[in-house]
Amino acid sequence: MKSQELVFTNNVGDAIDEIVGKINPCNVFVLVDVNTASFVLPRLQALSKTVAEATVITTKAGDMHKNLDSTAAIWKRLGEEGATRHSLLINVGGGVVTDMGAFAAATYKRGITFINVPTTLLGAVDASVGGKTGVNLGVLKNEVGVFRQADCVIVSTLFFNTLTSEELRSGYAEMLKHALLNDKSSFDRLIERHVEDFDADTLLGLLEKSVLIKKDIVDSDPEEKGLRKSLNLGHTVGHAFESLALERKSPLPHGYAVAYGLVTELVLSKLTLSFPSDLLHKFAAYVKEVYPGFYFSCDDYPRLIALMRHDKKNSSTADINFTLLENVGEVRIDCVIGEEEIKNAFDITRDLLGI
Ligand SMILES: NC(=O)c1ccc[n+]([C@@H]2O[C@H](COP(=O)([O-])OP(=O)(O)OC[C@H]3O[C@@H](n4cnc5c(N)ncnc54)[C@H](O)[C@@H]3O)[C@@H](O)[C@H]2O)c1
Ligand SMILES: [Zn+2]
Repeated sequence: MKSQELVFTNNVGDAIDEIVGKINPCNVFVLVDVNTASFVLPRLQALSKTVAEATVITTKAGDMHKNLDSTAAIWKRLGEEGATRHSLLINVGGGVVTDMGAFAAATYKRGITFINVPTTLLGAVDASVGGKTGVNLGVLKNEVGVFRQADCVIVSTLFFNTLTSEELRSGYAEMLKHALLNDKSSFDRLIERHVEDFDADTLLGLLEKSVLIKKDIVDSDPEEKGLRKSLNLGHTVGHAFESLALERKSPLPHGYAVAYGLVTELVLSKLTLSFPSDLLHKFAAYVKEVYPGFYFSCDDYPRLIALMRHDKKNSSTADINFTLLENVGEVRIDCVIGEEEIKNAFDITRDLLGI
């Protein structure tokens, strides 16, 4: 898989026009969901001649619509509006639009060119970069898809002012994860303040650093055969928290679940790899302040452990596999941890977060 072109700019219109000029497609389509159709598209049409002249395809918003029916509707519109193998699709939206639009483009006529313009922080820092495209199949998340990098990703903070603070904080958790995987100075910088307190240009600088951390990891292992597993940090436990919250019918934003998952996995890192205690405490204090609202008790431990075991990465083994840290930037993949140690880590997590 070729490496991905990433452009970091708040002059999004000029960037799109320049890149599309270089690609020189025979026609251009823009995919939006109903929310980016009203919050983002008019601004982008005013900024970019390409977008103003493109055929717009609008899909429903939300992960429940990231499925094969919506994909088929996109393929159908492309066909009806005269798309060819030399057409270009520009995906303008959050992770739902970039995952599904990328999948639709990667498969339409065996693959047309596409560009991602992420409009959520989660999309910018994670979903739009790295080549994982796909859709859900029933309750199975991201079950159908292909690895295919966008021809270009244009990362900006221009459209974040219409996101809720919950959405911003959720995306920021993935930035915290990237910092933990990479270097202490990024980590210190991020936990200094709340994401809402950065101005657009400062946040763009932090975002650039964060996305490049993911890009380096993906470039070294594009199809997740080894090192890319480090990006699972916080997610083995995080996914279990997310599923538990869903079972309780009080869904948790993905990044909130990841933030709590990171705390538990840093506790495990301390218990098994001597991750520094002071950093664990600093991080847990930040999560406690910024990501309130989730509770679990010892009654939930068996269910949480069962959920982790059912995670596809751990299906057949008795123990559970984790990505852990010896220190910030010192990653150990495939750490196998037993149940008692995990329960112990849950106890400590609850103490640290005051729950
Ligand atoms: N491919 C990957 O590597 C990868 C990684 C992480 C997550 N994902 C996927 O990403 C999706 C989650 O991404 P998300 O959180 O961006 O979800 P999303 O695309 O559903 O966006 C969240 C909400 O914000 C709205 N929205 C988007 N931009 C907006 C803007 N600028 N102003 C106002 N509203 C806006 C959307 O319409 C939606 O209602 C999931 O489907 C997940 O599986 C993929
Ligand atoms: Zn995540």
